[in-house]
Parts: sequence; C-alpha cells; structure tokens
Amino acid sequence: VTPRITTSRHSLVAIALALAGHVVVGMASSSEAQDRSLPERWRAPASWAGRVNPVAGRPDLAAGGRKVFLERCANCHAADATGFGHAPDLTSARVQRQSDGALFWKVSTGNAYKGMPTFSFLPEAQRWQVLLYLRSMSRGAPLIR
Ligand code: HEC
Repeated sequence: VTPRITTSRHSLVAIALALAGHVVVGMASSSEAQDRSLPERWRAPASWAGRVNPVAGRPDLAAGGRKVFLERCANCHAADATGFGHAPDLTSARVQRQSDGALFWKVSTGNAYKGMPTFSFLPEAQRWQVLLYLRSMSRGAPLIR
C-alpha cells in the first residue's frame, strides 16, 4: 500500500507543476505587453508586464504626471513626448501598446547602456502618474494644461 500512495503523491505533484507551468505561460503570452523588437534585457519580466496602473481611473492625476514629465523627462523625450536623438517617441503606437506594467518597469529600471536613466528614486505614485500622463497623449495631441 505504501509504495502506491507514494506514487500517486508524486503524480499529483507532477500534475500540479504542469498546471502551474501552464498558468505562467498563459499569463506571459496573453498580456502581449512587450515590444518583441527590443533586446531581451530591455523587456519587462512577465510579473511586471501584467501590472495595471493603480491610478488608471484617476484622469485628474495626469496633470501632476505632466509636471513630473516636464521636470524629469522632457529634456530627453521632448516636452510633447515625441522624443529626439536616441530618446524614443513615447506617444508612438510601438511604445503605447506596451502595458502599464512594462512601461513602469522600464521607467523604474532604466537602461544605462542606452542613456535611459533609472527613476526608482521617484516615489512609485509619481512614476504611475507620469505613465497616466503619457497614456493621455496620442501622437500630436495637445498637452494637458
Ligand atoms: C537622459 C535622457 C533621458 C531622460 C531624462 C529620460 N529618458 Fe526615457 N529614454 C531615454 C533613452 C535614450 C531611451 C531608449 C533606451 C533604449 O531603447 O534602450 C529611453 C526609453 C524610455 C522608455 C522605453 C520606450 C520603449 O522603447 O519601449 C520609456 C517608457 C521612457 N524612456 C520613459 C521616460 C520617462 C517617463 C522619463 C522621465 C521620468 C524618462 N524616460 C527620462 C532617455 C531618457
């Protein structure tokens, strides 16, 4: 009897692991949050890519995000966020179709090799606000005043 119980426990563990694997793979592929044309190290881990902006329902906070953007980001990405030099256009479809969480990760982590600083020193709430502001921008859309 004992060996049989051991075997069935093993197979239960195997099934559980297989299911867990499916869930993780499912999450990563269903989020479609990443720009696959970018190098691997400049893509948010799946655990980040799935996050939603906690202030997404607060458009009133975008003006505060704009202030942070003009202070911290505009010197490289331009005041209207369309970018210049190596700093990309943050209003472009390529950037905008990435998830909130993926963009949050990029702003927080930065990419020192390519000249994007880390902004992990900014309070999280401010980083989410900046992203809220960027979401409110579409190409050529007027700035929030
Ligand atoms: C010193 C210049 C500089 C500043 C300041 C800066 N960036 Fe960047 N940023 C860059 C560069 C250069 C890249 C491109 C990095 C790459 O592609 O590897 C980039 C990339 C990004 C990306 C990724 C876009 C993509 O291609 O997926 C986001 C999002 C971003 N910046 C947001 C911000 C925000 C928000 C701020 C302000 C809090 C900011 N940046 C400040 C230079 C800057």
